[in-house]
Amino acid sequence: MSSTISAAQASKVSDEGTRRRYDLMDMARRIPDVIELGRGDPDLATPTHIVAAAKEAIDRGVAEISDPAGLPELRRAIAEKLARDNGVTVDPKDGVVVTSGGQEALFLLVQTILGPGDEIIVPDPRYTSYDVAIKMAGGVMVSVPTHERDGFDVDPDEVARRITPRTKAILLITPGNPTAGTITPPHIRAIAALAIRHDLLVISDEIYEKFLYDGAEHLSIGSLPGMAQRTITLNGFSKTYAMTGWRIGYAAGPSTFMRELRRRKALCSVCAPVVSQWAALAALRGPQDAVTEFQQIYTRRRTMMLECLDRLGFTYGEPRGAFYVFANTSSTGMDSIDLSAKLLQEAHVLIFPGTGFGEQWVQYLRITLLQPDDMLAEAMRRVERCLGNEADKAMKE
Ligand SMILES: Cc1ncc(COP(=O)(O)O)c(C=O)c1O
Repeated sequence: MSSTISAAQASKVSDEGTRRRYDLMDMARRIPDVIELGRGDPDLATPTHIVAAAKEAIDRGVAEISDPAGLPELRRAIAEKLARDNGVTVDPKDGVVVTSGGQEALFLLVQTILGPGDEIIVPDPRYTSYDVAIKMAGGVMVSVPTHERDGFDVDPDEVARRITPRTKAILLITPGNPTAGTITPPHIRAIAALAIRHDLLVISDEIYEKFLYDGAEHLSIGSLPGMAQRTITLNGFSKTYAMTGWRIGYAAGPSTFMRELRRRKALCSVCAPVVSQWAALAALRGPQDAVTEFQQIYTRRRTMMLECLDRLGFTYGEPRGAFYVFANTSSTGMDSIDLSAKLLQEAHVLIFPGTGFGEQWVQYLRITLLQPDDMLAEAMRRVERCLGNEADKAMKE
């Protein structure tokens, strides 16, 4: 047997879209005045009371590890939060596993649910970290198309059509990344009915739940009758509390499943960073004003961005949550891989092509709202100038 890593082995843990995103980020690093609207990491500062709680934990000398599932007081706070905000009931002792970010939670969840050949239904476009986790588990991703005209909502009939005897689970991300679309409550209810009828698990990734616009409603599928025993809710602190670098998130669901997840978590990384766990506890127990303020900031930026996209003639599915816009750039006549390269090289603005979220989304860009207002405005001025020049050139030709 060869001791080198084959391309097939390497490709298990990477995909073309991700590779392209990393290439763009590398190029961006070499451009001193670049404005990055690429990664989905909030630019806002972690609220001061959360930082203070972490400092206190450090001063207390919290060098010991926690239970693999997390500090008992944090698991209790998460269970209380889920009951209060989401109507989801989980056992604080056995029903919650604190992880190193939602990213670790999603990876462990997929490895725990899927065996070789098992199918999981995944709405498309999608957060492709799940693709890699599914591939590594030997599972089969079954895509459900969603559409700009529906605000990228998930159609339960399309889900139903894809259920087979091999289907193990349905993945729902609402609000979504990259689309910022939400799954409407009637559709959540219809998908829950399908999960019950076909005895399926549901992964409900609700990491963007706190950022909603234009009266969009968030319904946690795990709160519906008959769903507690088949839903694993995934959430984290990176988005809600601007804590990406703290690497802290969680999964919560039925105790038998979560005990298995805890075992895998212990094997993988022992426990989530304990200082971050104390910070997360302060986030859940402390004042929530910062979250309201973040929501107001994103609302303002979103309005500005949509006005700019309207001027550019780009269309989009109504972004009803999160902090992205998935913009249809067909009017430029360019595919989004070329377009994002052009915007980076000529306008010094980094925006990811839609292909980073499914290869067929070649007419879309995912734009983030994660720069201070003045930087965001400057980025969009540069984009308008760059594409305006293009339109002028085309007129003259
Ligand atoms: C849909 C979704 N789930 C999970 C994550 C993981 O976030 P984190 O690991 O920072 O908690 C992200 C990050 O962008 C995401 O967009």
